[in-house]
Amino acid sequence: MSMQRIALIPGDGIGVPVTQAAMRVVAASGASVETQTFPWSCDYYLEHGHMMPADGIETLRGFDAIFLGAVGWPARVPDSVSLHGLLLPIRKAFVQYANIRPHRLLPGVEGPLRKTGFDILCIRENTEGEYSGAGGRVHQGTDDEVAVETSIFTRTGVERILRFAFEQAMTRRRKLASVTKSNAQRHSMVFWDEMTDRLAAEYPEVEVGRYHIDAMCARMVMDPDSLDVVVASNLFGDILTDLGAAIQGGLGFAASANINPDRSAPSMFEPVHGSAPDIADKGIANPMAAFWSAAMMLDHLGQSEPAARIMAAMEAATAQGIGTVPGRDTTDAITDAVLGHLG
Ligand code: IPM
Ligand code: MN
Repeated sequence: MSMQRIALIPGDGIGVPVTQAAMRVVAASGASVETQTFPWSCDYYLEHGHMMPADGIETLRGFDAIFLGAVGWPARVPDSVSLHGLLLPIRKAFVQYANIRPHRLLPGVEGPLRKTGFDILCIRENTEGEYSGAGGRVHQGTDDEVAVETSIFTRTGVERILRFAFEQAMTRRRKLASVTKSNAQRHSMVFWDEMTDRLAAEYPEVEVGRYHIDAMCARMVMDPDSLDVVVASNLFGDILTDLGAAIQGGLGFAASANINPDRSAPSMFEPVHGSAPDIADKGIANPMAAFWSAAMMLDHLGQSEPAARIMAAMEAATAQGIGTVPGRDTTDAITDAVLGHLG
């Protein structure tokens, strides 16, 4: 396997230490990657007036993958500026339309639920929907003020994310839950349901369930074992995957992959937890979500053996209780334990 080039964007807050830890683990896994670090972050914004340089996207395009720690430091830069200046444009520009987020309990992790056998793969639409960015404000600051934020659902966008989800279901337990709110949103979500039915005809082996987002929230808590692949729009997927993180023991375990399935541009891998300013300087960020995201990256790059070694080392560590109690073990202690299992 030739060296693959990874662009590292540690970003803000705990994004920095978990990225560092993840790259130590990647190096020890035997993966063949070389990394280049970009300092794009809220600090960078305060110095330069933008989150990344004007040619940032073109710079990233030359890499095989991107690993991102976290973006955001709302006390200093509004989230609407930092996220729309870095994370969200990368997802869109590189057509990373499938955001994959696995939710299952690692050995030794006690989630908040009595049901513990769940193994859910959330597939979140990642380039349009409620995150389209289309909209505006008029009469700002007056009593007549109006704000419009338009969701956009294109046939291309909906069809490709559903097809991706059906394909994932085919590689797993052949069960797909499609999540909408088509009882209230009669245009976009009814369209989504229709596309789901159309694709279901192409995948007769997949058992398809249609759920409304509110009911899905209840199901993920009450009966998560009944779910396999779950597909949802951008915002619904965002919300469901924080719920998924909670049932898998917390955001410290929630990994994600922003995938460009056509491989026409690099995909991006990031833990779901965000920058967590409240614990940023405490040295206690759980790097497991970053390790898991790095394993997903190596898998995507065809380096499945090092990826499997990382997952096995993480599971060996959690099975011994390492990193399983929020805030108890330091980032370094967890990293050293996983490195120890990598040998
Ligand atoms: C996530 C995050 C982002 C999102 C924010 C930071 C814009 O919550 O990746 O889940 O909503 O996509
Ligand atoms: Mn989120």
